[in-house]
Amino acid sequence: MGGMHRDTRCAELQAADIGRTVTLMGWVASRRDHGGIVFIDLRDRDGITQVAFSPDRMAAAHAEAHRLRSEFVIAVRGEVCARPEGTVNPRMATGEIEVYADELIILNTAETPPFQIEDDCDTAEDVRLRHRYLDLRRRPLQQALILRHRIAQAARRYLDENGFIEVDTPMLTRSTPEGARDYVVPSRVYPGSFYALPQSPQLFKQLLMVAGFDRYFQIARCFRDEDLRADRQPEFTQIDLELSFSDQDEIMAVTEGLITRMCEAAGHTVAPPFPRLTYDEAMARFGCDRPDVRFGLELVDVSDVAAACDFKVFSAAVARGGLVKGIRIPGGASLSRKEIDELTKFVQRYGAKGMAYFKVTDDGPTSNIAKFFTKEQLAEIGRRMEAQEGDLLVFGADTAHVVHDSLAALRCHLGRERNLYDPKELRFVWVTDFPMFEVGEGGHLSACHHPFTMVVEEDLERLESDPASLRTYAYDLVLNGTEIGGGSLRIHDLDVQLRMLALLGFSEAEARARFGFLLDALAHGAPPHGGLAFGLDRVAMLLAGRESIRDVIAFPKTQRTTCLLTDAPSEIDDAQLEELRLMVEREG
Ligand code: AMO
Ligand code: AMP
Repeated sequence: MGGMHRDTRCAELQAADIGRTVTLMGWVASRRDHGGIVFIDLRDRDGITQVAFSPDRMAAAHAEAHRLRSEFVIAVRGEVCARPEGTVNPRMATGEIEVYADELIILNTAETPPFQIEDDCDTAEDVRLRHRYLDLRRRPLQQALILRHRIAQAARRYLDENGFIEVDTPMLTRSTPEGARDYVVPSRVYPGSFYALPQSPQLFKQLLMVAGFDRYFQIARCFRDEDLRADRQPEFTQIDLELSFSDQDEIMAVTEGLITRMCEAAGHTVAPPFPRLTYDEAMARFGCDRPDVRFGLELVDVSDVAAACDFKVFSAAVARGGLVKGIRIPGGASLSRKEIDELTKFVQRYGAKGMAYFKVTDDGPTSNIAKFFTKEQLAEIGRRMEAQEGDLLVFGADTAHVVHDSLAALRCHLGRERNLYDPKELRFVWVTDFPMFEVGEGGHLSACHHPFTMVVEEDLERLESDPASLRTYAYDLVLNGTEIGGGSLRIHDLDVQLRMLALLGFSEAEARARFGFLLDALAHGAPPHGGLAFGLDRVAMLLAGRESIRDVIAFPKTQRTTCLLTDAPSEIDDAQLEELRLMVEREG
């Protein structure tokens, strides 16, 4: 670097530094020629300093400055000077000064970048992902990654202070059932055998409890082959913890302390304890298990009134075992027919067949379907929904699943569209008492959380007789409608674990083949234990105020699970396939 030694960063120079000689290094963000003087904005991780090259001061440096182009990498030595009156930039940290260069070294040239390195960039995301190292030069992305770093460090410090030991668990392992497909890695030494990348460290952290570690944590990479959404990546990071000899309240309190510190690291103040809702309450009032509690518009059950009315859509839905629920939209009576049709189309995307509605006038609810209801029924609906003149009452009638899905989505849509909350506010809520099982077609059971979750003590006796009714010691932490963490107390009794696996369709032989190591460990003095994992990417996304999880991951995958930068996944050559004894059936 031509004997130059960086002694100053690009965000730090102030009026008090005027007169100092400094050496800066970084990238040319822009170049302007003004009346013979060449000005550049020099950028490093911390910010920007204006550097001036004047022919009167140092002719050689000035001549060299004409070669500078965007994104050239340079070293400059010069004197910190006050900016002339009228050119001070109060919006810039270093806006009072500029550095007059005496020496310039071009450390490296750069091709014209495919997009401008600016805070606001409307270049398509795939172009930016292909050149991610350039995209990461943009300040919003740098700030998001630095914030993520601060959040992770705060978590580490808090957990260390609270007696948690950081332990790494394997990446090449066996399948851990967290409900997604596994990513698998072929073994060369054992042709035909595969490792699975962990969906979470769940089973290893339980083994660490059996080993006596008492309190464990890990900032762990997890892999899940599942359908992607804005808040999901195939490869993501958990802040994973597990505690022995602890109950649900203690685990929740430790977790609240942890997330509070993570929020503080991101400049947010939060005040635990957070409110708690049971799963049943969350479903009843919000139609989903990750309710956004920043606004009202709660769902109201009118199934009993609907069952008795003459509107066949309603009464038939209830007769078939379904539900009729409504949402009151304050002031919504002024919505036009077109706007109501748009809301109807919106719920239809979630499987609803329509959206019945009433406008509330001083005479009570009216609409084209009002004729199917008695005066008393209309009054009861109005009363239950706390209807006021000028409101719109909208309804879904279908299976519980469809009503909840469509109205929960409609509720969030309305909350956003009608600005019912401050987007900067953070509202946490715990959802507890999850059912053990989701019951699918033909009574097929799958675990809501995972198969190692402990059933509520008094429900255990119904394990085989009424599995659908079992509640668990499982809890999720929800922030602004996004599930940011989830955990549970675990089964530490071998017999209960075997019965649970049997309900999920594993014979004892199959259970032993897949989870034998865990079952053996349970027989060797497993303490009562439980834990939780936060999705670090999701937490960072929300605390950074981002809409996409990709903004807080340095090298993310696309919605189609590809890495545009490295072009992964890619084919491997025949020699490698042969070595692994793999054969690939190619399409076409
Ligand atoms: P769970 O499956 O709920 O629990 O995952 C914990 C948290 O991880 C985050 N998360 C994801 N983030 C980004 N992309 C994904 N594909 C993704 N999937 C999950 C979520 C979620 O709340 N072993 C249990 C934890 C435990 O019981 O202790 C587990 O993995 O924020
Ligand atoms: P129809 O009798 O089909 O003309 O519907 C009358 C009203 O009921 C319209 O506003 C429909 O959008 C609505 N509707 C139809 N099916 C449902 C349903 N399953 N749930 C709620 N509203 C519905």
